[in-house]
Amino acid sequence: MSGHNYFNKKTVRDVPLDGKTILLRADYNVPIDTSGNIADDYRIVSSLPTIKYLVEERGCNVVIISHLGRPKGIDPHLSLKLVSSRLQKLIKKPIKFIPACVGDKVSVATKNMAAGEIILLENLRFHEEEEANDEKFAHKLAKDSHARYFVQDGFGVVHRAHASTSAITQFLPSVGGLLLEREYQTIEGAMSHPKKPLTAVLGGAKIADKIELIDRFINIADQIVIGGAMASTFLQYKGFTVGKSLVEPDEKVIIDKIYQDVAKKVGLDNIDDFLVLPNDVAVAQKIDKKQPRKEVEAGNVHDEEIILDIGTKTMNRIEKYIGHEGTVIWNGPLGYAEILNFAYSSARLALHLAKNPKITSIIGGGDTADFVLDWDKQKGKSFSLVSTGGGASLELMSGKKLPGVEALLK
Ligand code: 3PG
Repeated sequence: MSGHNYFNKKTVRDVPLDGKTILLRADYNVPIDTSGNIADDYRIVSSLPTIKYLVEERGCNVVIISHLGRPKGIDPHLSLKLVSSRLQKLIKKPIKFIPACVGDKVSVATKNMAAGEIILLENLRFHEEEEANDEKFAHKLAKDSHARYFVQDGFGVVHRAHASTSAITQFLPSVGGLLLEREYQTIEGAMSHPKKPLTAVLGGAKIADKIELIDRFINIADQIVIGGAMASTFLQYKGFTVGKSLVEPDEKVIIDKIYQDVAKKVGLDNIDDFLVLPNDVAVAQKIDKKQPRKEVEAGNVHDEEIILDIGTKTMNRIEKYIGHEGTVIWNGPLGYAEILNFAYSSARLALHLAKNPKITSIIGGGDTADFVLDWDKQKGKSFSLVSTGGGASLELMSGKKLPGVEALLK
């Protein structure tokens, strides 16, 4: 990747926001476990550099807004109060939580903020106007926070055109935060000018969800590895038995087109070296953590078996393709990674990337990020980027415009 700037929007570094009150959009949509605790604070940890930069280097006061979950109206289980305690612990500064995101309570709390004060407001999605991208609501957010600038740093939410990502930019000069800039720059840089070879590793269940991404990778990648449940659909298409594996029955037309496009790019003889399917797989009788891992050749899956992971021989092949430098963009676990016996290939890929720092390794958000963050003792630092955005990273990689980025100042 060159020093080219792919994030061609203004950032916090480009505007005179010193000493001013900032309205900062973060993505604190964190998973909550059954006991009501934060199951994973990666998104909160990832938000710290921008907050610290604003407070410590630019002397700003910061009013943070976010959504959490998909509430219908006010839902105490989805209050951001939970996040405020974790944020306070992580940033080691007091965080004042206000149980509203617009209105008098907010206006009073933000009117005379002390230098360096940080306030977190309540879940934006307690108001239906947020998702409706309502201008009046966005105006209230801007006015009641007394902010002079809006900083968008919630990379995970910029694929949404909501009041706090889109309409808000009509009321305040709006720039990108450091996390948004880093994620956008890393992903777009790797997609536009990848350090070669570029291997795309794709898992997940639904081909339709990834079709735009597959199309883009057919153009730019040197290899596309297909894993996850998607691999079973491809194997069945190629005439292999897949037993009781989860397959998508109606994707023949889409896969025909994929193979036509691949043949056009690399020639008929090279298709299987470009679009890499597993030649061996791990199977089990059912999806259960007590099931042993049994590896078989791709053609030898019995009727009562389910494919739950890529096999060792295929992983050896994939590691050779990837090599020790270049770029790997990984989106979707390779097997049923929630169960240890079927997380082998995902863990092997994570290990290969972690052991080869010359590889630019980009891990898409969502399930893949959850897996590597759980696996990585360095909490994601073993890779070039573990994205905080599931849908947002997928859309950016697929070449789509992100409304929350488009709305920022050029
Ligand atoms: C995410 O988790 O992908 C983002 O926070 C966006 O949330 P949403 O899918 O509910 O809009």
